[in-house]
Amino acid sequence: MCGIVGYNGRAQAASILIDSLKRLEYRGYDSAGIAVFNEKTLEVFKEKGRIVDLEKTLPAVSGTIGIGHTRWATHGKPNKINAHPHTSGNIAVVHNGIIENYQELRDRLTASGYTFVSETDTEALAHLINHYYKDNLIDAVASALKDIRGSYAIAVLCGSELVAARKDSPLVAGIGDGGNFIASDIPAILKYTRRMIFLDDLEIASVTPDGISFYDVNKKPVEKTVKTIEWDMAAAEKSGYEHFMLKEIHEQPRSLHETLAGRIMELEGTINFEGLGLSESNISDISRICIIACGTSFNAGLLGKYLFEYLAKIHVDVEIASEFRYAHSAPGSLVIGISQSGETADTLAALRVAKSTGCRTLAIANIMGSTITRESDDVIYIRSGPEIGVAATKTFTSQLGVIYLLALYFGKIKWTINSDQMKRMLTAMKQLPSKITRILDNKEMIKKCAELIASSNDAYFVGRTFNYPIALEGALKLKEISYIHAEGYAAGELKHGPLALITKNTPVIAIATKGQTYDKMLNNIKEIKAREAHVIAIANENDSEIEKYVDDVIRIPSTEDILMPLLSTVVVQLLSYYVAKTRNCSIDQPRNLAKSVTVE
Ligand code: F6R
Repeated sequence: MCGIVGYNGRAQAASILIDSLKRLEYRGYDSAGIAVFNEKTLEVFKEKGRIVDLEKTLPAVSGTIGIGHTRWATHGKPNKINAHPHTSGNIAVVHNGIIENYQELRDRLTASGYTFVSETDTEALAHLINHYYKDNLIDAVASALKDIRGSYAIAVLCGSELVAARKDSPLVAGIGDGGNFIASDIPAILKYTRRMIFLDDLEIASVTPDGISFYDVNKKPVEKTVKTIEWDMAAAEKSGYEHFMLKEIHEQPRSLHETLAGRIMELEGTINFEGLGLSESNISDISRICIIACGTSFNAGLLGKYLFEYLAKIHVDVEIASEFRYAHSAPGSLVIGISQSGETADTLAALRVAKSTGCRTLAIANIMGSTITRESDDVIYIRSGPEIGVAATKTFTSQLGVIYLLALYFGKIKWTINSDQMKRMLTAMKQLPSKITRILDNKEMIKKCAELIASSNDAYFVGRTFNYPIALEGALKLKEISYIHAEGYAAGELKHGPLALITKNTPVIAIATKGQTYDKMLNNIKEIKAREAHVIAIANENDSEIEKYVDDVIRIPSTEDILMPLLSTVVVQLLSYYVAKTRNCSIDQPRNLAKSVTVE
């Protein structure tokens, strides 16, 4: 996953491809590559590292058709072999997304005589297209797409043919002067054209020097509309959103979908964590878990505690990494380190301490090949894609996605949940991305509440049980990007001290979704209201009770009670964002903070 470019025209392709890839550098990547057809043969160049590293190795490449890619590893390590394009005979492919049934395809293609050289899912696609290729690339791509499950944006090169297609991953075609383009993101080709056509799911584009034709998967021609892009480069990088944070909040339906892709078999009630070294008997033997993390990842870990204890009946300690490494130990525990970057110094050091005392370590991380993933015994990737805003948003919901699955997986092995519960939970999880979309489509109430919070000096987030970690995360998001003093509390704890701080000037965000502590939460809200605070509730869409006790209600779609925190998260992210925007703060780069904290 990361950036795709393609060109077919009258100019030299290599320099256009390199220039277009450079315009996607801001998104982050670990390797890059291009393939050019030089009228006789296919030439492929790829390199680990930066695009300039690739450029240094490039000979003078002649050819007016080609494809290029910046890779951000999800299947297989970041290295030259795994970098795209992947080839099979004369066919070269670049791909964003995840082919869920790649193992099955790999086995099938290997049995038919294809040899795999990389660890990627994309290589299976290259061989599959080759397998179907007779004399027409569109036919071969259309046939291959029918065999694959998963998400993709692809560009395929074969001789003088360039074909692209998409499903659940963005792809845009650009109409240029003397040549035409394909790209995963507008900024890649904005220098060359403003006339763009957005592909829809299951559409195929055939790009020639003179035009672009579109088809559905049955090769029926499709009429498309050309749009003129008015954005400047800075707006284009953020897909038109004002900030990366807002863009990343809106990416969550897709990022969560990628997190769950290929891991959920809801009809069978099973979960598949590819490559997880922990066997069923290892898991049966686990009686304690210790979760180690910092900041937002810690909040994800805290929800993990509730989930593992509830679903798998395993005792869990959650430790702040900078404390664990000096003051705690976890003998006999499975130690789970959660880190988006995989480079956080305290989390890394704490995991090393745990390992040195004989604990088995499991990393939940986003960046493939990062130090924490290399040093841990096992790794599960959250597959959120690169996150640029300093405040973690989409990586938090993807961390939660993995933790829900892991707790369910352990519960199934330990016989603490039955197969009906499992199927119900997995079916509900699959629906979460579309429920997030509904929240993102209805932001008016969130914006209204944000205006009220923006003029306050202090704010409190409260929740009970599964909602408590989201109260902490809401407070963390608000303080880091809006600089308003904010605290998150377990609502039952208020009367043991913090209630003294509640006045009519302290808005309280009460996460009050349905669940076993809902009635207790209503009592806590009454305590808060008695101190005249303005209470904003986050509640289920069909809750007709809550409005009697609070000032404002932000309603969210209902799902299984224990999954509601993932949906409430999107609300607290948006609330914090709009508060910070009203206060004109530097949202993507809050003062004093860094994306990856590699100092202790
Ligand atoms: C807050 C935030 C930080 C990180 C923390 C840990 O929005 O992003 O609190 O969560 O620095 O970082 P990772 O997950 O990379 O270990």
